[in-house]
Amino acid sequence: MKKLLLLLASLSLLSCGSEKKENNGTETTATITPEETGKAIFEGKGNCYSCHRADEQSIGPAIKDISKIYKDKKGNIVSFLKEESKPIVDPDKYSLMKANFYITKTFTDDELKAVEAYIYSH
Ligand code: HEC
Repeated sequence: MKKLLLLLASLSLLSCGSEKKENNGTETTATITPEETGKAIFEGKGNCYSCHRADEQSIGPAIKDISKIYKDKKGNIVSFLKEESKPIVDPDKYSLMKANFYITKTFTDDELKAVEAYIYSH
């Protein structure tokens, strides 16, 4: 039994190795931009998309409106999502947004910057 496992293990190692060789450095690895990472977080684990659509107000303001207001007022989305700065878009509804900080506070700085880049791409 042990021998069989060993054989299987070495077989999978071998196949891994050959896969790498096939690549041969000719294949270009896809570069993932911060916007794309941000989009993935926004629509994935961040669950932001359930309240924020690109162009239209839903439960939360449209992403393009957030983007515009933050650019105009030189706000800082990263610090907002860390609960370090006050809402400037729709303060009356802040309590709804506040409920998400338990998620955004688990994001790394790079992830927060990616989300910011995604918002600014609108
Ligand atoms: C339950 C609905 C809901 C979810 C989910 C949600 N938001 Fe919001 N968001 C709101 C509402 C409502 C506002 C408007 C209140 C405000 O401006 O703070 C808002 C406002 C914002 C603002 C503008 C803040 C400001 O300065 O006024 C940003 C930036 C933002 N959301 C980002 C996000 C991100 C990133 C996520 C995902 C991690 C997210 N939101 C998830 C409802 C939500």
